[in-house]
Amino acid sequence: MDYVKLGNTGLEVSRLCLGCMTFGEPDRGNHVWTLPEDQSRPLIRQAIELGINFLDTANVYSDGSSEEIVGRAIRDFSRREEIVLATKVHGRMRPGPNGGGLSRKAIFAEIDASLIRLGTDYVDLYQIHRWDPSTPIEETLEALHDVVKAGKARYIGASSMPAWHMMKALFTARLNGWTRFVSMQNHLNLLYREEEREMLPLCLDQGIGVIPWSPLARGRLARAWDESTHRAETDAFGKTLYVEADRAVVDAVGAIAAKRGVPRAQVALAWLCAKPGVTAPIIGASKPGHLTDAVAALELRLTAEEIAWLEEPYVPHRVAGFS
Ligand SMILES: NC(=O)c1ccc[n+]([C@@H]2O[C@H](COP(=O)([O-])OP(=O)(O)OC[C@H]3O[C@@H](n4cnc5c(N)ncnc54)[C@H](OP(=O)(O)O)[C@@H]3O)[C@@H](O)[C@H]2O)c1
Repeated sequence: MDYVKLGNTGLEVSRLCLGCMTFGEPDRGNHVWTLPEDQSRPLIRQAIELGINFLDTANVYSDGSSEEIVGRAIRDFSRREEIVLATKVHGRMRPGPNGGGLSRKAIFAEIDASLIRLGTDYVDLYQIHRWDPSTPIEETLEALHDVVKAGKARYIGASSMPAWHMMKALFTARLNGWTRFVSMQNHLNLLYREEEREMLPLCLDQGIGVIPWSPLARGRLARAWDESTHRAETDAFGKTLYVEADRAVVDAVGAIAAKRGVPRAQVALAWLCAKPGVTAPIIGASKPGHLTDAVAALELRLTAEEIAWLEEPYVPHRVAGFS
C-alpha cells in the first residue's frame, strides 16, 4: 500500500480510503442495502490488513450504527494511533430544533455523540457533510476550530459544495486565524466529472486533499449497464445521480477491461487515481474481492489513449449532491 500526504498536511493516508457507509444495520436509517455488523467486520479487518489506514464514516450513516460498527472494529483489529478516522456532521440526527445543521450547538453535540459511538476520544478528520445555508460560516468555522483546540479532532474537512463556498470558507478561516479545511470529499468518477471545472483546480491551488466519494458511481462503473445488484435496486439516492447517456462510458470501461483482462472496477479506479490532485478515492466494498480489486487498481497504469477513450463519451451532468 502506498501512503501519501493529505493535501498540504503532514498526515499520511493510504491511497485508498475505506468508505464505511456500507457498514450499518439495515433496519436503522434509510440505507436498506447496508451490511450488518457480522458481515461488516471481516471487510473492515481485510481492509486494515491490506494496509488501508484511512476510514470514512458519518454520524448519519445508518442512524449512527456505522460509527458504532467501525469503532468496535478499529478497537478489535488495529491500534487507534495507526488509523486515520474520519467522520462527518450536518445531517439530521433527530427531529426538531438543532437536530441537524452546522450551528455551534449542533456541532458540539454531534462531535460528542460521534466520539461515544466510535468509542474514541478524537477523530482524525472531522468533515462538514454539506454546507448549511442557514448558519453563518463564521459560526461553523469557529465551532470547528474549537473542536480541534479541545483535542476532539486533529483536522477538519469539507464535502460536496459549490467551489465558491469552499473558497469562502478557506478565506474566512485564514482571516480569523481559525483551522482551515484540509480536504474535499466530493462526487467525482467517470460518470460525474463536473468537479473538474472549478473544485479540482481550486483544491490543487490551495493544497486541499481530494477524496472522491462513490468513485465507481455506486457500482455502475464496476459492471455492465444492464446488470443490477440488491444495492443498485434499493439505493434511492444513487438513482438520482446518473443518466442513460452514461451507458457509453460504462461500455468504454468494459471494452478496456476486456482488452486488459482486468475487472472493470480496476479500470475506473485507475482513471481516478491518475487524476492530478486526487489523494484517495473513498471506496465502497460489500465483498472481499471489491477490496482486492481496489488495491490492484493502484498498480494499473492507463495509457493516454485509454484515458481519452474513457473520457470521450462523457456528457455534462446536472449538478447533483450539493444538498
Ligand atoms: N460525502 C458524501 O456526501 C458521500 C456520499 C456518498 C458516499 N460517501 C462515502 O463514499 C463511500 C463510497 O461510496 P460508494 O459505496 O457509493 O462507492 P463506490 O465505490 O462508487 O460503490 C461501491 C459499490 O460498487 C460495487 N463494487 C465495488 N467494487 C466492485 C468490484 N470490484 N466489482 C464489482 N462491483 C464492485 C459494489 O456494489 P454492490 O454492493 O451493489 O455489489 C459496492 O457496494 C461511502 O462509504 C462513504 O464513505 C460520501
